[in-house]
Amino acid sequence: MNSAVDMSVKIGSLVLRNPVMNGSGTFGTAPYGEHVDFSRIGAVVAKSVTQNPRQGNPPPRITEVRSGVINAVGIQNAGVREFIERKLPEMRNFDVPLIVSISNTMLDDFGRSVALLERAEGIAAYEINVSCPNLECGGRAFGMSPDDTRKVTESVRREVRSARPVIVKLTPNVTDIVEIAKAAADGGADALTVANTYIGMVVDLRTRRPVLGNTYGGVSGPAIKPLTMRHVFNVSRAVSLPVLASGGICTAKDALEYLMAGATAVQVGSANFSDPAIMERIVDGIASYLHTQEIASVSEFIGSIIA
Ligand SMILES: Cc1cc2nc3c(=O)[nH]c(=O)nc-3n(C[C@H](O)[C@H](O)[C@H](O)COP(=O)(O)O)c2cc1C
Repeated sequence: MNSAVDMSVKIGSLVLRNPVMNGSGTFGTAPYGEHVDFSRIGAVVAKSVTQNPRQGNPPPRITEVRSGVINAVGIQNAGVREFIERKLPEMRNFDVPLIVSISNTMLDDFGRSVALLERAEGIAAYEINVSCPNLECGGRAFGMSPDDTRKVTESVRREVRSARPVIVKLTPNVTDIVEIAKAAADGGADALTVANTYIGMVVDLRTRRPVLGNTYGGVSGPAIKPLTMRHVFNVSRAVSLPVLASGGICTAKDALEYLMAGATAVQVGSANFSDPAIMERIVDGIASYLHTQEIASVSEFIGSIIA
């Protein structure tokens, strides 16, 4: 990395050594630990945990599409208590701030999960995944409604006694993401992740069936980058909170484009599947670009788009 460039960024009260981290659910600290020097990346985001264990969706759960992947994992996890007892002790040993992602299908469970996590050590921030269906409201994702997004954010905010920032991860499957972003800000979010996957579907001509066991899934990877770029640009202009960009980042150039469009940090998702060490190379690429452009800090570059 080029040490002449100040790569640090601020997400609420949290200072990160650089703006690069993984997207939730796309990076296992245990299996990837051997391949990644954690001290070189800005943060690690854990896979979303829910209040109670979840089995996830029926297989097949993931398949490649042109320029991306589609998945319907369905937040399979062992629940927040198991996470605190078994996963967290291992994850907090890595030399990197840990962001814990929380997802739930009932409004009150968000606060319950956070209340348990508040008693645990070694967490730097929370990311609230509002893309999960709200089972009390016909299965529409919380993040599809400004009102539900505000309520979820408020219920988390009420339970947070620590200085840990609350990052709300928005779904792009909405008519007006800016309206949702403003609702999260009103609810007390410290930052916003823009955005989760795009709902899609793939079918198999041979079997005449949907490919995924869940019929629908979330599309990610390079295919979605231009779609999410628009959301990052619009949200970062409309809301005065740091935006973490998540959508199709595979190279330092992709990351730099998001930072230029207004993102304060970037999350690398599907690209980790083909190369777990990709985040370190993205960090190096950002630093070397800024150095050659004689830009002293990444924060000077953020939002520098001429538009
Ligand atoms: C297999 C898979 C599992 C995912 N699991 C989660 C999850 O548990 N929680 C979450 O907030 N996002 C989850 N995501 C979304 C990613 O974190 C990311 O926002 C999305 O894939 C877009 O980034 P990308 O195009 O770089 O992959 C998942 C994505 C994939 C591909």
